[in-house]
Amino acid sequence: MSTMIMFNQVNKWYGAYQALTDLSAEINTGEVVVVCGPSGSGKSTLIRTVNRLEPIDNGQIVFDGTDIHGSSTRLNQLRTRIGFVFQSFNLFPHVSVAENIMMSPMKVLGMKRAEARQQAGELLERVGLSHKADAYPAQLSGGQQQRVAIARALAMKPPVMLFDEPTSALDPEMVGEVLSVMRSLAQEGMTMMCVTHEMNFAREVADTIWFMDQGQILEKSTPEKFFTQPQHPRAQRFLSDLRSH
Ligand SMILES: Nc1ncnc2c1ncn2[C@@H]1O[C@H](COP(=O)(O)OP(=O)(O)O)[C@@H](O)[C@H]1O
Ligand SMILES: [Mg+2]
Repeated sequence: MSTMIMFNQVNKWYGAYQALTDLSAEINTGEVVVVCGPSGSGKSTLIRTVNRLEPIDNGQIVFDGTDIHGSSTRLNQLRTRIGFVFQSFNLFPHVSVAENIMMSPMKVLGMKRAEARQQAGELLERVGLSHKADAYPAQLSGGQQQRVAIARALAMKPPVMLFDEPTSALDPEMVGEVLSVMRSLAQEGMTMMCVTHEMNFAREVADTIWFMDQGQILEKSTPEKFFTQPQHPRAQRFLSDLRSH
């Protein structure tokens, strides 16, 4: 099994506040990792270091053989290979759904318009939105916009997808449609790192759960083990708090 992403003794500070402490972990090709933990534990910081939205102070993050924070690493090239879906949808409002998906492959990869259009159609079918190709983002629900955001990321054929709370900004009735697209991606073998509070998704889809607190991963385990016999007292408390809410 090959390693897709490796965090090696990563430390990061925001000023005097240490947000990540000696963090080491790896994600294998095809693995689905769900990162969970209390608010402020460093989950977003960690995931944002992978595509260098956040710098690190020391340590190393290696993605597919490339030292992400290395001084000679070309940022634009790196980001085309890492799909990232955030809490907010960030679609381009003035172009259609299909154009949103066609833009990067045409601009960055030099894909011909006809091919990009065909690929957009296939991706929209995959996320269940074939009928919305010519709509504008504002005409879609939040759940639909987030599915377009996933299709747009997939258009670059990234070997890995990062998700930072992709369903947190959605009305409850739209959460399921987004999780179901993520679930099918996982089943197709996509390597995924997902920050989410959706514990049913974590239980069903994750290969590995990372539990974070105070900038460290306190526990890495399978969902079965994490949800039935969490080892770390902080993880036990986190899960019992979730259950009592
Ligand atoms: N840009 C920033 N400047 C200063 N502190 C930050 C910044 N971003 C996050 N933090 C702090 O770092 C800690 C981890 O934040 P974050 O990674 O967003 O946690 P999580 O995603 O787990 O809620 C928090 O204490 C937060 O206040
Ligand atoms: Mg966060």
